Amino acid sequence: MQAILLVGGLGTRLRPLTLTTPKQMLPLLHRPMIEHVVSGLARHGVARVVLALGYHHDAFRDAYLDGRCAGVEMACVVESEPLDTAGAIRFAYTESGMEASGGTFLVANGDVITDLDVGAMLRVHRSAGAEATIHLMEVENPSRYGVVVTDPDGRVDAFLEKPAEPAPSRWINAGTYLMEPSVIGRIDGGRRVSVEREIFPAMAAAGTLWALRHNTYWVDAGTPQTYLQAQLDLLDGRRGPAAVGVSPEAAVDPGALVERSVVMVGAVVGAGSAVRGSAVHPGAVIGAGATVLDSVVGSGATVGQGARVTGGTLIGEGFAVEPGAVLSGARVPEVA
Ligand code: GDD
Ligand code: MG
Repeated sequence: MQAILLVGGLGTRLRPLTLTTPKQMLPLLHRPMIEHVVSGLARHGVARVVLALGYHHDAFRDAYLDGRCAGVEMACVVESEPLDTAGAIRFAYTESGMEASGGTFLVANGDVITDLDVGAMLRVHRSAGAEATIHLMEVENPSRYGVVVTDPDGRVDAFLEKPAEPAPSRWINAGTYLMEPSVIGRIDGGRRVSVEREIFPAMAAAGTLWALRHNTYWVDAGTPQTYLQAQLDLLDGRRGPAAVGVSPEAAVDPGALVERSVVMVGAVVGAGSAVRGSAVHPGAVIGAGATVLDSVVGSGATVGQGARVTGGTLIGEGFAVEPGAVLSGARVPEVA
């Protein structure tokens, strides 16, 4: 099975971290987010991935010069301008040679970290004779997602992307799809087309779209809170043995307190400081006596002595927080 991974978005919700690094290349635990996605798919038989790239595409190419990502054969296609999700699927499919091999293929949003059983999804897709099948998850607050209404057999009756009105269902599009090649024929070339706003609603109306309700481990790591959550879940052992948060190549002072946090390679955590529920990226420096709580300190950034950084603050790559500063829910630098 081949997979198209949608990784060309701007990552606006994670700015300023994504001003210098595309979302799916941000480190999650100790390796880029994309590698978590690819290795999850590889466990379920995906043998080749095509990255649908745009924004900061060089970051991916430079990281995987040998054409393999997490041990899986990787190809890249680059949109000269963003084509939106369906436009990107069509472009990746036609430009990467997938057309020649034909057959069912997988598509995933590149920020979705999940333990979805792709084999189970494929069985549902085949037995329904679906043109496409969507993985659904049940959530408390569906309105920031694609909301999906199905009939009792799993056929999709309606697909509503980020509905303004109260959502008619708590089942949401979890961002992994199986598709038949005929889906490509539904997507216009050369313009922006959204799979969520245009293609899925049309397929629902045609009765060819199916869904698999499957509650499993799942997080869309595209917001500050969920980007941290995906890492805390690994530390807390919610997906197997608890992961180790502090890199052996980080320098944590014995007088510092590091709790439920990821401290990455080359980072320095000074004496008397406290780091909780946070991610400290490679080469970042936490000054003596500083507090970092539920926040992200970008690569090579500095938190000055005695500063307090809390409440989902994001500090951009190479930026500095002044000694003694107090920040909560801030962006450094400020972003529009
Ligand atoms: N190549 C390419 N080109 N990729 C794109 C483009 C584009 O123009 N626009 C977005 N992407 C990629 C993003 O990089 C991301 O990996 C994926 O498409 C989805 O975009 P997000 O910006 O993360 O969307 P979302 O999280 O608001 O909503 C999507 O995911 C939800 C589940 O996590 C939708 O698919 C929702 O329906 C879904 O519920
Ligand atoms: Mg997302």
